[in-house]
Amino acid sequence: MENSIEFIAKDVCRLAVSVGAYLREEQQKLKKSAIEMKGARNYVTYVDKEAEKRLVEQLKEILPDAGFLTEEATVEYVRREYTWMIDPLDGTTNYVHGDTPFSVSIALMKNDEIVLGVVYDPVADELFSAVGGDARLNGEAIRVSDKEALKNGYIGFGIPYSLSAEGETVLRNAIALFRECSFRMKGSSALEICYVACGRFDAYFHSGLSPWDVAAGSFILKRAGGKATDFSGGDNYLFGKEIVASNGKIHDDILSKIIGK
Ligand code: IPD
Ligand code: CA
Ligand code: CA
Repeated sequence: MENSIEFIAKDVCRLAVSVGAYLREEQQKLKKSAIEMKGARNYVTYVDKEAEKRLVEQLKEILPDAGFLTEEATVEYVRREYTWMIDPLDGTTNYVHGDTPFSVSIALMKNDEIVLGVVYDPVADELFSAVGGDARLNGEAIRVSDKEALKNGYIGFGIPYSLSAEGETVLRNAIALFRECSFRMKGSSALEICYVACGRFDAYFHSGLSPWDVAAGSFILKRAGGKATDFSGGDNYLFGKEIVASNGKIHDDILSKIIGK
């Protein structure tokens, strides 16, 4: 099966590109009346749901026995030996405002381990992927940055839909460093974790995330030599709703100076 995961990856990449093209084309046609609210500043559209249906349909053909965990729940959540974790449109807030970036994110989990990750940005035409071996961006091997210190770091982050007291503290800590680092919010966590993987960002942090936001990106990051943890420095970043993703070298500084651990 491990060899055939390499084989499957090619089909999954093709699928991400084709669903990405659908997202890109449909953004031009999106009407205000098609935008629904899931909660405060949390949007969803028929495009999210249609993209997910297309992904599920095709992934069932690629790996018939696998289970699914998907954001829009167009298919029942079932964990199997192999389980797909899908965010059909990561960056819906950008999307509904006619902005970028946004992405398609697909991960395959074997038991408790991610074994394949694909994240595609259809506007920039950037395809991030990893199976075994190197992580890739449009077929070329990628590595994390070699930045050794937070000073002059280029760091991504996001603000969760609902903010806990701990989340407020993290943001206050980051604000205190605003003169030392450059902070960016791009609005697609799957993609922003890949930006760490390819050395564009030195690190990224976010709480209040779901497994489909981080599954593919964190696997790609690790294959590119980076590090992903929860806010306590542990491994519970997939289902634990918080992630610090970094080049590894500035990870402890992010944990101590921004997350406050
Ligand atoms: C969102 C994006 C955003 C992050 C939100 C996520 P969605 O995903 O990844 O960057 O800040 O917390 O929910 O809703 O666009 O799929
Ligand atoms: Ca998402
Ligand atoms: Ca989504």
